[in-house]
Amino acid sequence: MEEKKPVVVYGANGSTGKLICEYLREYDIPFIAAGRNEERLEAAMKLVPGNETADYEVRAVEHSVEALTELFKGASVVCNVVGPFHFYGQPVVEAALAAGCHYIDTTGESNWMKQLKDEFGPKFAAANLSLCPGTAYMYINLEIAAQVALEEDGIDTIEAVTSSNGIPTYGSTQTIVSLVKSESTYYENGQRVDWPVAKVYETVVPGYVMTQLAHPWGGGSLPLWFEDDYRVRNCRTLTTFPDRPMFENIVQLEGHYHKDIKKLPQEEQDAILFQIAEGMQPGHPPRENRLIHSCVDYAIGTGGARQREVILRSGPAYLQTGAYQAAAAHKLINQGPDKVGFVSPCQMLGHRYLLSQTETFFATELEVR
Ligand SMILES: NC(=O)c1ccc[n+]([C@@H]2O[C@H](COP(=O)([O-])OP(=O)(O)OC[C@H]3O[C@@H](n4cnc5c(N)ncnc54)[C@H](OP(=O)(O)O)[C@@H]3O)[C@@H](O)[C@H]2O)c1
Repeated sequence: MEEKKPVVVYGANGSTGKLICEYLREYDIPFIAAGRNEERLEAAMKLVPGNETADYEVRAVEHSVEALTELFKGASVVCNVVGPFHFYGQPVVEAALAAGCHYIDTTGESNWMKQLKDEFGPKFAAANLSLCPGTAYMYINLEIAAQVALEEDGIDTIEAVTSSNGIPTYGSTQTIVSLVKSESTYYENGQRVDWPVAKVYETVVPGYVMTQLAHPWGGGSLPLWFEDDYRVRNCRTLTTFPDRPMFENIVQLEGHYHKDIKKLPQEEQDAILFQIAEGMQPGHPPRENRLIHSCVDYAIGTGGARQREVILRSGPAYLQTGAYQAAAAHKLINQGPDKVGFVSPCQMLGHRYLLSQTETFFATELEVR
């Protein structure tokens, strides 16, 4: 009987799923490309550069705990790319746990991460497995920058901003729009504090002459990852794209949601937001261009009179996400995680390991001031 492939990519035919498959081949990792439609999966796999030499199989699967558990059994790592995750993620996490697999996904949704931490973190820890949502550009690079700042003893406060120029995919746009429903929190003196609703901030991003409009974006994931870290008392992060009109639209939409949509029944709210996202991005944008698309992640660590600024300049966000997922699978399969239970990517794999992997594939520069 053929041996089970160690990695299952669920949502493999999507924009990011294809990139994960591409980088799994770079690491020479056999994988199952799974999703809800076999034809779309087969067609997508033909578009993955180099896939003719990859060791993979295609499997269509129903989106249920039972069917997904059956598919995942015998594998080691589930890479889930079916988002928005607060809509679709729960059965996939349950199935990964039932099948005894480490779970990673590409979310940037803090509401989903909070849910996972409370509901599933202890169960994964008891099973000696890692549960690591957010194994993706947003917010690994910001976490790397923050972790480098925290290498200096005495730093206890992190202020950070992530800025990427790219075109959101269909799935990302659905996710971005659904985030207007999410509460946004930061972490101050050991407590979660709410960000004001429908507000953007003028923000300085290194390398840009003009300021950018930044948004709390659900609060980002750093406050959640650092709330159990004894070194950190305060953590606040913002997200921006140099595309200013897009941010003006987001804040208007958030205001519209709170004034007009929030009072409607949940299903109606979701249907309206789905339509709005469809209007913004009905299809799939072209593959990123390394000469055009890049990212800047900027963390300022302070503590007493100490200050450390860290700037991580890197390549395209979606390509990096593909590489990070494959790099995570590579370490999980060959060495196992540094930590089990609910973990951030840097806690699971080490920030210097993740940095080395993005440096391997992309023009990356880490500056520490
Ligand atoms: N944090 C980050 O930096 C980062 C980076 C990349 C992606 N992401 C997130 O990852 C998610 C996916 O992004 P993407 O770019 O790959 O989007 P995408 O191109 O739209 O792909 C979405 C995938 O999910 C599948 N899917 C959608 N609804 C489903 C359902 N009800 N049941 C089963 N499968 C379903 C799609 O299958 P069909 O083709 O059959 O519809 C497709 O395979 C988004 O939430 C995005 O925000 C985050």
